[in-house]
Amino acid sequence: KNIQWDAVTAEKDGYKHFMLKEIFEQPRTIEDTLKGRVFPDEARVYVEEVKIETKFIKDLSKICIIGCGTSYNAGLVAKFLFEKFLRVTVEVDIASEFRYREPVIDNKTLVIVISQSGETADTLAALRLANKKGCQTLAVCNVMESSISREAQHVIYTRCGPEIGVASTKAFTGQLTALYILALDWAAKKESLSKDVLKEYIKELWSIPVKVGDFLKTSDNVKEVAKNFSAKRDFLYLGRHVNFPIALEGALKLKEISYIHAEGYAAGEMKHGPIALIDESMPIVAIAPLGDVYEKILSNISEAKARGAIVIAVASENDKEIKQKSDAQIYVPATSELFSPFITVIPLQLLAYFVAEVLGKDVDQPRNLAKSVTVE
Ligand code: G6P
Repeated sequence: KNIQWDAVTAEKDGYKHFMLKEIFEQPRTIEDTLKGRVFPDEARVYVEEVKIETKFIKDLSKICIIGCGTSYNAGLVAKFLFEKFLRVTVEVDIASEFRYREPVIDNKTLVIVISQSGETADTLAALRLANKKGCQTLAVCNVMESSISREAQHVIYTRCGPEIGVASTKAFTGQLTALYILALDWAAKKESLSKDVLKEYIKELWSIPVKVGDFLKTSDNVKEVAKNFSAKRDFLYLGRHVNFPIALEGALKLKEISYIHAEGYAAGEMKHGPIALIDESMPIVAIAPLGDVYEKILSNISEAKARGAIVIAVASENDKEIKQKSDAQIYVPATSELFSPFITVIPLQLLAYFVAEVLGKDVDQPRNLAKSVTVE
């Protein structure tokens, strides 16, 4: 048998596309981003490179988080963490909006810019504005020596390695990892969480790579779902609380690579508009892991079903109820609600990937999109 090797095939490590390879790398990239920063045995978090003073954290008036695309969605998740752990006001902005507003920021504001590439023009401009206004600035970045990592006062690197697929996957979970680490670090400094809670959260964060790895072993199930639904032209993604940004991210992934129209919505907001669109031709992807808002999203699912919707549920593996309430199920490992975005986003990345694959789209180089948008 003739085996043909070329450089690109070799780089893809046997996967058909970079995107799939990058999805499967996530247990490792999350772990790499945690290592040397999170110490579960000692219940300690330590971020050597970020030298923001404890006094500044304690006196913070506001955190502004800024990004574009997938990086913006990571920022939306982080809002929940910083508010809950630090009891501080958090605003999340799209970089191209922030830079043309008159944001109320000063030397008591921490501005966090999130960028995989470190070269996105709008994010860089927002960072420059924050620097000029006297804020402390911190970048969550994947590329060393990039413009954003050079110009920010502090940087925490995600350790994802190069991301080649235009649709961002491992960079997103890397960004989440870095943001959870920072939230825990600052909560410890501010003493705004009890030692027991802090310990519990650190343990939970440490367990994420294994759970992501466990889920990835079941990816064939997602492929089946993708095959059954790839002919649909519209999708609605619903989530609540920390999984609302994941609904946005799931919809973004599908749009980017399959060119299917998809919208992410806060499930409780469905009845204020999208419910008018519901029928059997528009599947609903409901992100419904067990947790405090589980019952709420179940009732949103029922409202949708009553109008003829077909529901694909992303649910916890120990959920006994969801099978009766939905048409297709994708089960993910159980985790506490606050940490669930790491686990619920993976099936959505895979769903988008497999749908695009079935439709024969150019997964790694979708039309009209660029990996990094360096002009305004
Ligand atoms: C482009 C890419 C997205 C990415 C966004 C922000 O739109 O296609 O995948 O999320 O830029 O990029 P950044 O490098 O700043 O995270």
